[in-house]
Amino acid sequence: MASFYYYTLFLVMATVCSQGLSVGVNWGTMATHQLPADMVVQMLKNNGFEKLKLFEADESILNALVGTEIEVMLAIPNNMLAEMSSGLDAAVSWVDANVTAYVYSGGVNINYVAVGNEPTLQTYNGTYLSYMLPALRNIQEALNRAGHGDRIKATIPFNADVYYSPDSDPVPSAGDFRPEVRDLTLEILQFLHENSAPFTVNIYPFLSLYGNKNFPIDYAFFEGSNVPIKDQGLTYTNVFDANFDTLVSALNKAGYPDMEIIVGEVGWPTDGDIHANVENAKRFNQGLLQHIMSGEGTPLRKGKINVYLFSLIDENAKSIAPGNFERHWGIFEFDGMPKYELDLAGMQEDRTLIPVEGVVYMVKRWCVLNPDATNLGDLPNNINYACSLSDCTTLGYGCSCNHLTVRGNASYAFNMYYQIKSQNIWDCDFDGLAMITDQDPSESSCQFPIMIDYGSSGILHKGLFEVLLTSLSVCILFLLVL
Ligand SMILES: *[C@@H]1O[C@H](CO)[C@@H](O)[C@H](O)[C@H]1NC(C)=O
Ligand SMILES: *[C@@H]1O[C@H](CO)[C@@H](O)[C@H](O)[C@H]1NC(C)=O
Ligand SMILES: *[C@@H]1O[C@H](CO)[C@@H](O)[C@H](O)[C@H]1NC(C)=O
Repeated sequence: MASFYYYTLFLVMATVCSQGLSVGVNWGTMATHQLPADMVVQMLKNNGFEKLKLFEADESILNALVGTEIEVMLAIPNNMLAEMSSGLDAAVSWVDANVTAYVYSGGVNINYVAVGNEPTLQTYNGTYLSYMLPALRNIQEALNRAGHGDRIKATIPFNADVYYSPDSDPVPSAGDFRPEVRDLTLEILQFLHENSAPFTVNIYPFLSLYGNKNFPIDYAFFEGSNVPIKDQGLTYTNVFDANFDTLVSALNKAGYPDMEIIVGEVGWPTDGDIHANVENAKRFNQGLLQHIMSGEGTPLRKGKINVYLFSLIDENAKSIAPGNFERHWGIFEFDGMPKYELDLAGMQEDRTLIPVEGVVYMVKRWCVLNPDATNLGDLPNNINYACSLSDCTTLGYGCSCNHLTVRGNASYAFNMYYQIKSQNIWDCDFDGLAMITDQDPSESSCQFPIMIDYGSSGILHKGLFEVLLTSLSVCILFLLVL
């Protein structure tokens, strides 16, 4: 009887707000061969990832997430923004099909919908600007009508160049939104504020370094810098904090000093550029995790910072228009093997990530240059052909396979083509220059991969530019029934 009384009396609803207690991760799927979604979801669970960001409502991934606690930010690709902005009906259909269908007790824990992905990126020439606010409004309204409004917020992942500090005063406190998109951003801010939704931004110190030969390398990382920036009594020793606080200043000026900020993407690639390697990626991500988990925050905003790492797995079919590094952002290889040790709890311990388990590979066969081939004049054309239809992003200057000879280059290109084509015999010919071998041509630093044995997605023909670069803070409602 006493215990019944206890139960009744303490039927408690406790709200625990876990502001980014764990790091999230972006899972992009622009790869020719996809690991089965359920195997990747198991790996996410094994590693303790609690937050995930998806670039589209991929059915197989959402189905694999059913029954997990993982919080999901689900994105609507830019090419659907026009439709979503056109009227409430389209948004209602999208929400019904891609949110409501999964959000049930024991279903998928969706907590944000990302409306577009960096739609203000200058590369898009303003194509998406007029769709942004109407699409955001329609999606939030559709979420509200479906009864999800309290739990699921619509947000827009912005690229960080939507704000800036003027060259004449390049300090975070001078931060403001860019004049070209300022009015639009202010309207979006007001809408986000009314709906208690966060501002989402992607921050890439790697791109700061990549785009500026004079950028002080240490300033991209988190161990301090001998050229810190002084700003109104505050000291900035890393560009991540400086960038984040430029946004905080812009939000302050706009009248939203308390708006929640989610870093939707942040990370470091491991190949495809002189600064993109495993050592730097580990240094950056480990430093970042320790920094965001410490709770010290940035000089202008104390507390934990809510981030989603970019990214989970390498994507060999991403556009390399921004650079060869685009296909090497993963903390895991294309086959689900971790690239380096990373302590997701931010304690700087050399903790090994758990790989995707049970991965099936194709036969151990490689396509290489036939040493007896004599028509070497045909090499350049054949290498170009192989590379243009596969992935030779590790051959360039400063990359892992840059030391190969011309013959090594040829073998590398032929093999990548052959593997991406799923090892068809007829895809290892190249005017008779090529042959199949069971001898692994890999060297310690330069891997000649064997493809994983899962269906080719044919994704090379899709709009590659859509998923270039791309967020979240989280309140978990715990219903504690004692
Ligand atoms: C989401 O819902 C819409 C219905 O409006 C549908 O056309 C679309 O294919 C669904 N899936 C994705 C990935 O957007
Ligand atoms: C943007 O404009 C430039 C120059 O006019 C053009 O080359 C490019 O293709 C355009 N990009 C898009 C995505 O429309
Ligand atoms: C191999 O290919 C890369 C990328 O095209 C090129 O930069 C490099 O010079 C080539 N190596 C040789 C020895 O030709």
